[in-house]
Amino acid sequence: MKRITLKDIVMIIQRTLDSMDDRLEGHGEKVAYIMYKLLKCQGGYSDEQILRMITLTVFHDIGVYKVEERNHIVAIDLEIPMNHSVYGYLFIKYFSPLSDLAEIVLGHHLYPKDFSHSAEIKIPKEALLLNLADSIAVLQLRFNKIDPRWILNKNSNYLLEEHKELFKKACDEYDLLEKIQGDTYLSELYEVLEKRELSREEIISYARMLNYAIDFRSEATILHTITVEEISWQICKIIGLDDYKSTIIKVASMLHDIGKISIPINILEKKGSLTKEEFEVMKSHALVVYKILSNMGIDDIRDIAALHHEKLNGTGYPFGLRDDQISKEVRIVAVADILSALIGKRSYKDVFSKDQVLSILSNMVSNYEIDKDICRLVIENYDYIKEKVKANTKDTIDLYNNLMNEYEAMLNYFDKISFVLK
Ligand SMILES: [Fe+2]
Ligand SMILES: [Fe+2]
Ligand SMILES: [Fe+2]
Repeated sequence: MKRITLKDIVMIIQRTLDSMDDRLEGHGEKVAYIMYKLLKCQGGYSDEQILRMITLTVFHDIGVYKVEERNHIVAIDLEIPMNHSVYGYLFIKYFSPLSDLAEIVLGHHLYPKDFSHSAEIKIPKEALLLNLADSIAVLQLRFNKIDPRWILNKNSNYLLEEHKELFKKACDEYDLLEKIQGDTYLSELYEVLEKRELSREEIISYARMLNYAIDFRSEATILHTITVEEISWQICKIIGLDDYKSTIIKVASMLHDIGKISIPINILEKKGSLTKEEFEVMKSHALVVYKILSNMGIDDIRDIAALHHEKLNGTGYPFGLRDDQISKEVRIVAVADILSALIGKRSYKDVFSKDQVLSILSNMVSNYEIDKDICRLVIENYDYIKEKVKANTKDTIDLYNNLMNEYEAMLNYFDKISFVLK
């Protein structure tokens, strides 16, 4: 695998989130750049701490992809509901490599006025800084040019004096406002992120975070990606592929449905079969995956992830490839994807029995849709694979249920309390 850096991961995350709502295109990266400059002005952080905080900033609104608050994010000086902050906080705490920073997201729509000395929930000061960075980006998006007085004249209920100073310093020393008006800030941000190479474990945990963000949008798909990943992995092991190939297939499996973030929830969750138009919308997710993963130097991963709906007889999508245009790696993920759908519960169907699953797979082999050797291995090892899937997905479902319970409890709690600033 080529050297994968924080820049690659940030780009994948940003492109994925952008493909859901283009009003916010590049929002996370812009806020991350502003945050970077504010943190630099503040001083006292290590390079690694800064890198982690700006990465967090790129997906600070990840909670809205579940709670549908998108209209509020582009609003200025409006009381924004806590829902996406709370969901985002819990999501980052349980499902991201940056769990220790989750409280920054929890507090990113709070103002100094929301804090009191006697409160129980502690929020780090960086949350208020993120709020400032976020509002600068929103103002810039709205008015194109920012008058610094809009920030400097805010009263102390809304902005700490020390943060006004940081803003002033960032404008004077780094030309902050000019930079974010053009697009050079992006290359500067990427330059910083590119220096940080990621380990295999880090790549996997960011990819996993992203697929949970997408699968958790719908009850029916909570376990889909992780199941595909597990089945692909087991097939690789049964075939005896080496570690390098198996890892590429694992990462591609994790990313295979990231394009689904652009599919409206009513189509994802529809009970009964999709209309022709809806099915066309659904199919578009494969091409979205292809676009997100293009021009990043990871074409090997892209060409497995984005082609999982191709069929050997040429009837698949997005490109209608056939025969040996479809690699062994793609064939593995394609079978894993189908098997995951068959053994999982969906809004339009119940779990199929073993006999039903095996006969559907055999039919697909007869129609020359999927690979017959891979299918044979899956059929021979069916019980073993299912056992593995069950064992390795149990924790996710437990964590998801805890997350949703905690989410409800925290929302109730927040109606009554204020916060303490750490
Ligand atoms: Fe937000
Ligand atoms: Fe798919
Ligand atoms: Fe899938």
